Amino acid sequence: MEYKRNILITGGAGFIGSHVVRLFVDKYPEYRVINLDKLTYAGNLANLKDIEEKENYTFVKADICDFDKMMALFEEYAIDGVIHLAAESHVDRSIKDPFTFAKTNVIGTLSLLQAAKLSWDGKFEGKRFYHISTDEVYGALKFDGSFFVETTKYNPHSPYSASKASSDHFVRAFHDTYGLPTIVTNCSNNYGPYQFPEKLIPLFINNIRHNKPLPVYGKGENVRDWLYVEDHARAIDIIFHQGNIAETYNIGGFNEWKNIDLIKVIIKTVDRLLGNEEGTSEGLITYVTDRAGHDLRYAIDSTKLKTELGWEPSLQFEEGIEKTVRWYLDNQEWLDNVTSGAYQEYYDKMYGNKPEGDERIAGIG
Ligand code: NAD
Ligand code: DAU
Repeated sequence: MEYKRNILITGGAGFIGSHVVRLFVDKYPEYRVINLDKLTYAGNLANLKDIEEKENYTFVKADICDFDKMMALFEEYAIDGVIHLAAESHVDRSIKDPFTFAKTNVIGTLSLLQAAKLSWDGKFEGKRFYHISTDEVYGALKFDGSFFVETTKYNPHSPYSASKASSDHFVRAFHDTYGLPTIVTNCSNNYGPYQFPEKLIPLFINNIRHNKPLPVYGKGENVRDWLYVEDHARAIDIIFHQGNIAETYNIGGFNEWKNIDLIKVIIKTVDRLLGNEEGTSEGLITYVTDRAGHDLRYAIDSTKLKTELGWEPSLQFEEGIEKTVRWYLDNQEWLDNVTSGAYQEYYDKMYGNKPEGDERIAGIG
């Protein structure tokens, strides 16, 4: 079948990527969606079980750092659009192992950019290279009601945010130097189904379920701006199709929560849905040593996206957190497979092929 577009989505087996892949495969049967993922510890094909048989969906296991492979893929699938989500994404891991973050997030992004530039060879009409980034590149805000806007100066503090900042700069440099049609978006904290349970919300839901301690970094006073993952995927769809080349758009929920207050909402919701008496799991809260370089506050101003492209979050936080907690409690098998490492065998079952190397770290750190 001749497809109208051939879109390469990198990191599609991860948390946000799987929602983006699902949205594109379902909404655009006229597009071929190629999901390219290395299947690191964070990649899980079970996240896409419901769409893996769809005709317009193709999975390719590959490392974005493998430049020859990227060139071959652009040619084989006549890629005309890229939505780049593949990355090492967890701040705590970046503190322990910054090299892996530089390799994947910086060199991997550069390898994709170069493959797009050489494959498209100046014929940029209708092409698009859309890079997904984070609000963490802007650094940290004080408790003064200020927001990150698209022109806020970059000031990353963690190895993760430094690597994402570097990749953002490379993307913009490829537009300015070679005319590559790029777009960058910087989004706030996502939450929802299929998030790896090393991140705050799924980790805490899972720990409450197992009556395990809830490690609160520092005093729990840091603030994050939370956005339901499907709202992010919807923004990505709109921006991919209608965003202006060379622009940056901030994506966020105008939904700031102090960690400790958010944690109390999670505890209350899990306890209620498990039928526990209110407050049962509050005793699990355990204050631990703060994360090194822990950014105090993030808050995104997404007015530009609303004004120019009409996007705004659709879900109220109360509704989003209820849906999320319910999903993890209803999908305990998914959680158990991830925490036991069993999910890593899914690829073998699906594709009858053992992945090479030991790059897939079992379980959670
Ligand atoms: P994730 O860790 O859940 O998924 C990352 C995916 O990338 C995994 O499937 C992994 O296997 C794949 N991957 C890693 N290294 C790769 C490589 N070398 N080659 C090919 N694939 C590789 O991450 P996520 O939370 O879904 O984040 C996706 C993107 O969105 C990242 O770029 C992240 O920086 C950005 N982002 C995340 C958030 C958030 O709150 N999670 C917010 C803003 C931006
Ligand atoms: O802001 C966007 C970023 O959000 C993304 O770019 C990252 O990929 C994503 O991981 C997320 O980064 P955070 O560091 O904000 O997310 P995390 O879930 O790790 O932590 C959220 C807050 O909770 C943060 O202030 C640290 C704190 N925390 C986290 C964990 C895992 C704890 O107090 N205890 C914990 O055990």
